[in-house]
Amino acid sequence: HSGWPGLIAAYRDRLAVGDDWQAVTLQEGGTPLLPAEHLSEITGCEVYLKVEGLNPTGSFKDRGMTMAVTDAVARGQRAVLCASTGNTSASAAAYAAKAGITCAVLIPAGKIAMGKLAQSVIYGATIIQVDGNFDDCLELARKATSEFPEIALVNSVNPARIEGQKTAAFEICDVLGKAPDVHALPVGNAGNITAYWRGYKEYHADGVTTSLPRMLGVQAAGAAPLVHGAPVKNPETIATAIRIGAPASWNAAVAARDESNGQFRAATDEKLLEAYRLIASREGVFVEPASAASVAGLLAAREDGWLEPGQTVVCTVTGNGLKDPDTALLGMPEVKAIPVDPVAVARALGLAE
Ligand code: F0G
Repeated sequence: HSGWPGLIAAYRDRLAVGDDWQAVTLQEGGTPLLPAEHLSEITGCEVYLKVEGLNPTGSFKDRGMTMAVTDAVARGQRAVLCASTGNTSASAAAYAAKAGITCAVLIPAGKIAMGKLAQSVIYGATIIQVDGNFDDCLELARKATSEFPEIALVNSVNPARIEGQKTAAFEICDVLGKAPDVHALPVGNAGNITAYWRGYKEYHADGVTTSLPRMLGVQAAGAAPLVHGAPVKNPETIATAIRIGAPASWNAAVAARDESNGQFRAATDEKLLEAYRLIASREGVFVEPASAASVAGLLAAREDGWLEPGQTVVCTVTGNGLKDPDTALLGMPEVKAIPVDPVAVARALGLAE
């Protein structure tokens, strides 16, 4: 291989992968841990962004999917199925394509971002729209795969998914030379917070690190079951990726919060969009709206004092902004064409009459 080999090769000794298994990889992982100067300045903390939108299909799901599809192929399965708000389906479709197996995705009708739909289409997945939300899709996917066990379920209820995703915590500790004090991330179905916590705990138990972060899980206010302590029947948020009312990894997420002395917190759509625009305009990183939950949570936690200055904080930004161009263009003023004339350019910049 040239350069970064993908996360199974990088962390094989820490993953549940058989010796004779052939990794299905798109060389995922190895994403930047980017110093966030503006966020550091306004919070008085040392803030980093773990830029997961730079994975092969543009989200952190690729970490779990390289493992889940590798596992499925090793077991002789020839088809994978998932429920998805868009990113899991894009990732499953890509890894199934790479492996040469079949992929079908169950998506909530009309509620996934355009870029994600385009990905599933071009990778060649069978797209099944369901007249229901993500929670309905996941229940259906569970039932279908238990009735037809030759199809692998590749949602994060598949243990291989969590295994793969824990490597993001390893990478962060490897780069920082320690664990951060606080780790903030968006929470939907709660697989990722479960995975990060497992990764941090493993490094700590093996003496690679000497401390553990407090986990800050951030949900959208209209889809915040873990914050309320009860499922939400009709979740609603502009951050469609985390429009989830009954997280599958509920207990593990609560354990991550409790064991880490952490917190769940909700951010309104308005705060999510504010953070979304700030990350792009001040840090130069275009993320999708759900990803901004980590930063919205960081800012709120700093404001109410849960987070003190001087701490090292990592915010995972989970997905690439290009997946959801519609939200980026919301409220954009009408752009008028100018004549082919340098003075017109200067005028548009306010430099000429
Ligand atoms: N951020 C993005 C961009 C996501 O796509 C998701 C989940 C999350 C955060 C939340 O992660 O579910 O592990 O708590 N997306 C899933 C999907 C549900 O179908 O793509 P989680």
